[in-house]
Amino acid sequence: MTNKNILIIGSSGGIGKAFANFYSQDPNNKIIGLSRSQENFEESLYANHYIDLEKEDTIENAALTVSEHSPFQLIIIASGILHAENLAPEKSHKHISAENFKKILNVNTIGPALVGKFFIPLLDSHSPSVMAFLSARVGSISDNRLGGWHAYRSSKASLNMIIKNFSLEVSRTNKQASIIGLHPGTVNTELSKPFQKNVAESKLFSPEFSAGAMAKVIDNLKQEDTGSVLAFDGSKIES
Ligand SMILES: NC(=O)c1ccc[n+]([C@@H]2O[C@H](COP(=O)([O-])OP(=O)(O)OC[C@H]3O[C@@H](n4cnc5c(N)ncnc54)[C@H](OP(=O)(O)O)[C@@H]3O)[C@@H](O)[C@H]2O)c1
Repeated sequence: MTNKNILIIGSSGGIGKAFANFYSQDPNNKIIGLSRSQENFEESLYANHYIDLEKEDTIENAALTVSEHSPFQLIIIASGILHAENLAPEKSHKHISAENFKKILNVNTIGPALVGKFFIPLLDSHSPSVMAFLSARVGSISDNRLGGWHAYRSSKASLNMIIKNFSLEVSRTNKQASIIGLHPGTVNTELSKPFQKNVAESKLFSPEFSAGAMAKVIDNLKQEDTGSVLAFDGSKIES
């Protein structure tokens, strides 16, 4: 992958930062970051601008701001929440809270859907381009053997539907674009920190390993993969 304009939404997160560092190894790549914390990671990002996925106007403004660097050959949506202050994933139906459920859906599903609304037009249509949303294996309904985490699981299952919908719509006008979901594995970041104690050491990836593996998946995409959710090892995750 050379000479790419790359946009990373969630550039301040564990996986987002690792993606930025990975792609910055090629000095021909121009990497733009978007996050709420406007910290500029000088070493890997060309620029970093503000976005809050819970506020549509900031998503629209961010798209306008970065449009001067378009078209993008790669847009990665590496944002998401699983827990926050006073918000823990539900172990039982008894813990479901409408307020928390809405918050998770806003950040993990509705925000990314609005990203599609404003950023799909910025994808390259003259050479191959990819829009990759960080999803999660727990969003698979057929793979759900444990239950729990009602809002987070639902938010990712719903995100997967959005990804499929976008892929169908985009394929009619931009045949060079792929819209995919990615499962990063269990990765050592703030998001997974409270839930790592039962994860075997060999199954807990560093952000660098996970981002590198997913970059390989992105590099090896075939046209028929659009609309799919792929794991870090390239295997397909069923709905
Ligand atoms: N870590 C894992 O084991 C794992 C496993 C499966 C899937 N995933 C998925 O991978 C993605 C990245 O997770 P991570 O592990 O890198 O988590 P992380 O380190 O906690 O990073 C989360 C990112 O989301 C951003 N974010 C949160 N709320 C936002 C909002 N309202 N508006 C804009 N950005 C917001 C944060 O940015 P600011 O707070 O700076 O705005 C941060 O950049 C998520 O979608 C997650 O569901 C992770």
